[in-house]
Amino acid sequence: MIGPFERLLRPFLHALDPEDAHRLTIEMLKFAPLPRAAGDDKRLAVRAFGLNFPNPIGMAAGFDKNAEVPDALLRLGFGFVEAGTVTPLPQRGNPRPRVFRLTADRGVINRLGFNSQGAEAVLRRLAARANAGGIVGINIGANKDAADRIADYVRLIERFAPVASYVTINISSPNTPGLRDLQQAGALDDLLARVIDARERVTRRAGPTPVLLKIAPDLSLAELDDMVGIARVHRIDGMIVGNTTLTRPASLREMKIAKEAGGLSGRPLLRLATRMLAETSVRAEGAFPLIGVGGIDSGAAALAKIRAGASLIQLYSALVFRGLGLMAEIKAALLSALARDSLDSLSELIGADAAAVTAEPWPQ
Ligand SMILES: Cc1cc2nc3c(=O)[nH]c(=O)nc-3n(C[C@H](O)[C@H](O)[C@H](O)COP(=O)(O)O)c2cc1C
Repeated sequence: MIGPFERLLRPFLHALDPEDAHRLTIEMLKFAPLPRAAGDDKRLAVRAFGLNFPNPIGMAAGFDKNAEVPDALLRLGFGFVEAGTVTPLPQRGNPRPRVFRLTADRGVINRLGFNSQGAEAVLRRLAARANAGGIVGINIGANKDAADRIADYVRLIERFAPVASYVTINISSPNTPGLRDLQQAGALDDLLARVIDARERVTRRAGPTPVLLKIAPDLSLAELDDMVGIARVHRIDGMIVGNTTLTRPASLREMKIAKEAGGLSGRPLLRLATRMLAETSVRAEGAFPLIGVGGIDSGAAALAKIRAGASLIQLYSALVFRGLGLMAEIKAALLSALARDSLDSLSELIGADAAAVTAEPWPQ
């Protein structure tokens, strides 16, 4: 039902500016009478951060920035949804145009810059659905003009821990000048100490809401050593690897659009993001679960993320080019991988190839 309708719609959406197409998609999801997807095969269930995920496929942050349609996305078959990034105060983000399709490369460049309706509006929506079931996390970020960015994260943790399944600290967006500096060891140590302290303060009222850290794929391995070490010291519940990249692989075909400033996502990001995921996995040594994100556009890519160390995966850009049919394809591919090895859960595949991936030549 959704598939043929979506296929008819896609050429129309692609004729629009990407941001207009996105807005229209959100409006349709708000009002479309969506049938609930069939229940997931039990072998796809994953337990991580104390939460039970019906399947490992999540909607990545940035699609539903203002938590307008999390329940529609869950109904469509996502195992979880990450709303946000939300900032404390509303802000408009960068001037348009600020999202670009690299169609021949199946990639996207965005420099949205945390356009957000702000914490009040998002909090109201999440509070209204807090008892609806389903896993809906929130990704939080600092306002561009914040005098004390760490204080922004602390305030958002306190406010969102009671209504979100988990909270992601996003210090890896490339589109807020200086934000990625919070990934440096000294700043990160301070940030995580204050954020975890805030989480502990609200635990009695909110329960032990897991706190995850989303990192950039552009870190050096020495920076990654520091980050994973600090995350382990502060007992972060998980890491998301990763955000968009500022690099531009030599293989890109859309040369002109590739020159646009912003973060690149989609297929051209797959190899770098999977490599960074494997590098994170060998450093985390099972201390916390990882979510693998970046360039997943097939069942094989999803399986590669899990084998590189991901307990869960997220995607966004591929939906622009492949549509929601991709989700069924990924679920089928994971189930056939399990059947091939006579396994009854994905847990035995997680990280199976992590060490091998880190031994490959660095992706160009
Ligand atoms: C248009 C767009 C907006 C995004 N906005 C956010 C955001 O607000 N916060 C965030 O953490 N990541 C954001 N991302 C990054 C995605 O969550 C994801 O990490 C990245 O796109 C890689 O996954 P993909 O290749 O499947 O798209 C955005 C990505 C895109 C394409």
